[in-house]
Amino acid sequence: MAEDLYREVILDHYKNPRGHGVIEDPDAQAEGVNPLCGDEVSIYVQFGEDGETVDEVKFSGRGCAISQASTSMLMEMVKGKTAREIAELPKEQLLEEVGIPLTPIRLKCALLGLGVLKVALHRAKGTPLPQEWAGLDELELS
Ligand code: FES
Repeated sequence: MAEDLYREVILDHYKNPRGHGVIEDPDAQAEGVNPLCGDEVSIYVQFGEDGETVDEVKFSGRGCAISQASTSMLMEMVKGKTAREIAELPKEQLLEEVGIPLTPIRLKCALLGLGVLKVALHRAKGTPLPQEWAGLDELELS
């Protein structure tokens, strides 16, 4: 029952993605591709006056409902947070929001946006990348 509800929320985010779009001249930006399927996500970040707090964040991309919906959920989650807080955001928190059990392949879909965002912040602010994303810089994420 609860799973149905989560599925509905995922579909709603997929059809009406929050924070969908592009920020011209962003303070931080990265793109990523899931090499297994070719799905893409680009994320653009603009910081507030303190240069640390996310003032605006947008994403564009194409792909499956899980990758696009979880990135949409992520946009709502990280607005108003600092780059460091986002760098430390555990992936479990996003997965909880997604809410449904995921196979290892779907897990990659759900975490695509979070990985891209962490790489964008890493490049712009030098925030640490979690170990599992180390190297993604050169591999899937460009
Ligand atoms: Fe490609 Fe989900 S099938 S990210």
